[in-house]
Formats: sequence, C-alpha cells, structure tokens
Amino acid sequence: MHKFKKRRPFQLLLTAGLCLGALNSTGAALWLEEPVRPPVAPVVEIQETQVPVPNPEEEARAAAERAARQSRAAALLAGKQLTREQREALALRMGADDALFQKLEQGALSLSELEWLALPNARSHRLDRYAAWAEAHPEDSREAAVFQVNLNRDQAFYSLIWEVADPDSLGVLVNKHYTLSASYVPQLEALGRDYGSGSLRPEAAQAFRAMVDGAKSDGIALRSVSAYRSYNQQKNTHNRYLKQYKQAVVDNFSARPGHSEHQTGLALDINVASSSAHFENTPAFAWLKEHCAQYGFILRYGQGKEDITGYRFEPWHYRYVGVETAQAVMEQGLAYEEYLALQPS
Ligand code: DAL
Ligand code: ZN
Repeated sequence: MHKFKKRRPFQLLLTAGLCLGALNSTGAALWLEEPVRPPVAPVVEIQETQVPVPNPEEEARAAAERAARQSRAAALLAGKQLTREQREALALRMGADDALFQKLEQGALSLSELEWLALPNARSHRLDRYAAWAEAHPEDSREAAVFQVNLNRDQAFYSLIWEVADPDSLGVLVNKHYTLSASYVPQLEALGRDYGSGSLRPEAAQAFRAMVDGAKSDGIALRSVSAYRSYNQQKNTHNRYLKQYKQAVVDNFSARPGHSEHQTGLALDINVASSSAHFENTPAFAWLKEHCAQYGFILRYGQGKEDITGYRFEPWHYRYVGVETAQAVMEQGLAYEEYLALQPS
C-alpha cells in the first residue's frame, strides 16, 4: 500500500475559512492488483466561467430561505453537546445547504458527524472517510484528518478514480485520482511561432503570451516546449517510457493517459522538460516563481509536494488557473491539491 508520510503543520488550515470557492472529491485500491474501477462519482469543480445572471427577486427569496433554515438549524443544534463556535458554523452551513439541513431536521446526523461538519472544509459525502482516518491516526486533530482525506491521502494513487464532471472548468483538477475521458478535447488556440510550440485553451494561451511578453521586457526568454497533449499522445509518451523503466518509476514523472494536466489545455512546459536541465537554477525559473501568478499560472509540481501531487519536482510545468486563484496558491506556497482541500464546502 501507499505509505503516507508525516502530516504537515496545520497553520495552512487557518486560511480555510478565509477562502471562497469549492472543490470536492474522493478516491480508492491498488492498480496492478486490480483494474481501475470505472468512474463512480462526479467531481464538483470550481465553476469560474459561470457567472450567474443577477435576479434581485430570486436572490431575496433565496436569502430569506437561507436565513430561515439557519435559524431553525440553530434551534435544533441548541441542545447538542457542541461548542458555540461549532453550533454557529453548523447553522451557517445548514443555511446554505438544504440537503444537510433536511438531515438535521430528520435527526439523521450523529454528534460525531456534526463535529466533522462544523469544519468549513469538511465534505458531507466524506464523513465515513474522516472517521476512518481519525481511527487510524488518533494523533491527528480533526482539522488534520479532514485535510488529509480531502487530499485523498487515505487512498493510494490510481486506486479509485473519478472522472471530472466539468473538464471545461478553469479550476479543473486532474491528477492521479481524477481523470479526463479519452475523448475530451478542449477548445484550443495555437500559441504562435514567437511563443514556442503547441496550443492551449484560448484563456491560457492569451495569458501565456502576456507572460512571455512580460518576461521578455525583463530580459527573460520563455517559450513553450509542450502544451496541450491529447489522450493518445500522452498514452504513446507514457508507453514509450514504460519500455525503458518500471511503472513505479514512470509514475513519478509521466501521467497515465487521461491523468495528464496537459490534456486540459491549461498546462504547459516552459523552456525545458527534463530534470537534468536543472531549470530550477535558471533566472527564468526565478522570474516565473515571482511573476507567474500575476498572469494566472501556478507551479504545479513543487519541491516538497511530491507526496501530494504524486510527481517529482517539475520546475518547468505551469498550470493556468486564473489570477485570483494563482495568487492565493503561490502566496501560500500550496500545491493546487492543498489549496482545493482547504476550500470551504
Ligand atoms: N509530466 C506530467 C506529470 C505529465 O505527464 O502530465
Ligand atoms: Zn508538463
């Protein structure tokens, strides 16, 4: 089984309540020992591209319903053995989540479940996994257990796989637990001769060109050496590596088909794509580290994050997520998985 390393300090979690947005998910079983199960549950993705059309009447009605649920939930929670903070957090949550509120009304939530749900980033569909983690790791706080399970660290990589529900979301998470279908092809735009090879989704292509131009004015040359890769391209690349190395070795640097961020059209390799080039020691890397978020990009496979991302350090691989998210991720020094695991439900 995949072994989990020691858990990291939890000052990160303090930021959870401050962030907005949402991303839930899960994953489970060991590949090679059993076939990857077909996708069983959709992943809820951040829908940055969907801006609801404001409707004042509808909004006022929804706000009144929320307030009514919240106050009824507060009344139902009043008699429970919970702290005031827990009760307040739960009432707020029940106000926003009708399904959960119904369960509370029906008396279908145990005290222990309520204690988990009082944490802003606890996902209601993962309560069993939080409890299992807590039992296996009695030394961990509740916050730590929720964080680890949200990261799917209770599951071996490639053991249980979810197909992403909205591959076109700019916040899409593709990794060793979340896959794109073989037929998924994003809308693409060529980067253009001056920007290196390949194509990206239009938003990402435009941001990349702006980043290259910005770097150029600082005397730094950036170019794409690999951007969008189709499912079949990734399959061929991955299979080529498998002729040379064992699966466990290849998995450290090459995604299995369907699991590569390159298939999203939002990720690219800049200047080099090889550890031996030591891109991390170049002025181009220093520039990217400082400026990529301004253009909406994040370093996706950071140093020290290998157990979370499942990949060794790739100083050349950047992912477009939009400026706001990129700034939050880079400023806090998070892996994208960690950022998402801390988001409130
Ligand atoms: N090298 C990255 C992890 C990929 O194969 O997508
Ligand atoms: Zn890459």
